[in-house]
Amino acid sequence: QMASEPVNVNEYQELARRALPKMYYDFYAAGAEDEHTLRENVKAFSRISICPRILIDVRQIDLSTSILGHHISAPILIAPTAYHKLAHSEGEIATAKAAAACKTIMVLSFSSNSTLEEVSASCNAVRFFQLYVFKNRQLSAWLVQRAEKSGYKAIVLTVDTPKLGRREADIKNKMIAPQVKNLEGFMSTEVVNDKGSGPQAFANSYYDSSFSWKDLNWLKSITKLPILIKGVLTHEDATRAVELGVDGIIVSNHGARQLDYAPATISVLEEVVHAVGGKVPVLLDGGVRRGTDIFKALALGARAVLIGRPVIYGLAAKGENGVKQVIGMLKDELELTLALTGCSSIKDITRNHVRTDNETHR
Ligand code: FNR
Repeated sequence: QMASEPVNVNEYQELARRALPKMYYDFYAAGAEDEHTLRENVKAFSRISICPRILIDVRQIDLSTSILGHHISAPILIAPTAYHKLAHSEGEIATAKAAAACKTIMVLSFSSNSTLEEVSASCNAVRFFQLYVFKNRQLSAWLVQRAEKSGYKAIVLTVDTPKLGRREADIKNKMIAPQVKNLEGFMSTEVVNDKGSGPQAFANSYYDSSFSWKDLNWLKSITKLPILIKGVLTHEDATRAVELGVDGIIVSNHGARQLDYAPATISVLEEVVHAVGGKVPVLLDGGVRRGTDIFKALALGARAVLIGRPVIYGLAAKGENGVKQVIGMLKDELELTLALTGCSSIKDITRNHVRTDNETHR
């Protein structure tokens, strides 16, 4: 019996579920606690409608854009996600190759199953490196220096994880965290895992939950790379981050894996965009599953979006090709959305192309 090919990125989730052991599938799919935010990240997009403009020549559509001076084929980046070898034997190398083929940027997670140097050697995609700050500052500094040396173009500092969120599926499954490749040779990352999940035990022993605003200067002092701050959800924090000189902001709730009942990212995007006032690019992730979702985020002021779970599901189902197909589908859908809304390029998308719930008359 032949299984039909997926026709949208949501259909990769079921393929991934069939391909993976339950412990790993659950690790990828789950959110924190009640998973309220997990559902809202997706649902909040559906409450925004798109207002097409008619009778515009849309024979040629240009999806290309740039982020921090790097030209990419579409405003779609690969979000940093942990442990790609639990999804597919080629792990992050396959994802990076797909990023290169799709001419987009891969943000490599600190928690990768290949070292950041191995990922660099395997492909020429533009790469950013995602960082957590560790109790041992030398360790963070060492990672930043290695990222610089192996050609990563920015540091993505994840700030929503002073402790790991409570992901109950991982606790039930007694999820085992693989050894952290990027720390090999520095220290053993064996952690005692008597209660809770492996990732939780790791985070609690290594992440520095005292890291705060004043410490951002420390990070700036050890690198010349631009710094994007990932996990901003309020205009207050956006304003503060810009004042402190960050080079970009990622509106994110960590794919609903940290604080449950945090707002859906698309619902706070505009507030952040207004606070930032065009001084630095604002990106968004969380629940992006359709080209129309990307269009909505851009209309509300995002420069680009990042894709988390669908990339992992594509990887689990079909390796490098699966990731290419997922990015390709989102690009095709976005291109069609531009055509049907009368936009021939990304810069033609305006605030007037969307309506949120509370704006029926404009
Ligand atoms: C993540 N995310 C994440 N973020 C980060 O900064 N460092 C990391 O190591 C990880 N790891 C990770 C693992 C898994 C399995 C998931 C699903 C997510 C969060 C990620 O970068 C992004 O914010 C969300 O995945 C975006 O939401 P969607 O696209 O998954 O809905």
